[in-house]
Amino acid sequence: MTAQIIDGKALSAQLRTEVAARAATLKAKSGITPGLAVILVGDNQASQVYVRNKVKACEEAGFHSVLEKYDATMTEAELLARVEALNNDPSIHGILVQLPLPKHIDDHKVIETISPAKDVDGFHVASAGALMVGEVGFKACTPYGCMKMLESIGMKDLRGKHAVVIGRSNIVGKPMAMMLLAANATVTVTHSGTADLGAMTRQADVVVAAVGKRNVLTADMVKPGAVVIDVGMNRDDAGKLCGDVDYDGVKEVAGFITPVPGGVGPMTITMLLVNTMESAERTAG
Ligand code: GUN
Repeated sequence: MTAQIIDGKALSAQLRTEVAARAATLKAKSGITPGLAVILVGDNQASQVYVRNKVKACEEAGFHSVLEKYDATMTEAELLARVEALNNDPSIHGILVQLPLPKHIDDHKVIETISPAKDVDGFHVASAGALMVGEVGFKACTPYGCMKMLESIGMKDLRGKHAVVIGRSNIVGKPMAMMLLAANATVTVTHSGTADLGAMTRQADVVVAAVGKRNVLTADMVKPGAVVIDVGMNRDDAGKLCGDVDYDGVKEVAGFITPVPGGVGPMTITMLLVNTMESAERTAG
C-alpha cells in the first residue's frame, strides 16, 4: 500500500484564499485591515527567509504588515519597548518576534511582554494556559496547522483514536498534545529518550513527529494505515530538505503522510494568517 499524501501546499492555498476573503469582508464592513508586525533581531539566515515569507503571505492576503529588523546589538530593554509600542498600536492585531533571539535577550521575557490579545504565535503563557483549559486564546501555528491537516482528511474528531506525539517542545510537541486531547484523542507524548519508541508508535492511529532529527520514525515503527504527520525540517547528506520521518519507507505502510517540503511547513504561516485574521475580527467585535 502506498500512503495518500496530505498536500500542505494545496490546503494552505485554499485556507489563504478563505482568509483573504475574510479580510476583504472585514475591511468592507468595519474599515479594519488586519495588521501583523514581525520583529527580527540579528542576522540568522533561516530567520531572514521565514520572516520574508511571513510578510509576503500577509501582503498576498491583503493584510497590513510591518517588518522591523534590528541589529544583533539591540538591547533587551529596547526590544521590550518596541513590543510595548506595538501592543498599543491599534493598526496592529498580531505581534510576532522571530526566534531564536540573540543570547543576551531573554526569549521568555519578550514573549510575556506581548499582549495575549496580539499573541498570534500562541507562545504566551496565557495562550498556552487557555489551550490547556479550553478557553479562547491563540493556538500555536504549527500544531494548529497539523490539526487542520487532520481535519482535511476527515479526522476532526479523534474519539477512539490513539495519537502519539514524538517531541515535547513548548512550540510544537506540548501544544500539539493539548490540541489532540481537545479533539478527543487518547494521547501519548514521547521524546528522543523514550524507551522502545516503536512499541508506542506501532499502537498509534496518528503519529506526529516533531523532534528535529532525521529518521526518528521508520517503516517498522508504523501501524499499517496510520496517519503520519512530519513536522521535522532537516537536511539529508546531500543537503536536501527532509523531515523526521523516513518518508520513502513509511509511505509504503502509512495510510496518509505529509511530505517535506510541501507538508506542515506552508501550514505554519497559513495559521499565522488565520490567527491574525481572528485577532482583527475580535477587535471589530
Ligand atoms: N522560529 C521558528 N519557528 C518560529 C515560529 O513559529 N514563530 C516564531 N516567532 N519564531 C520561530
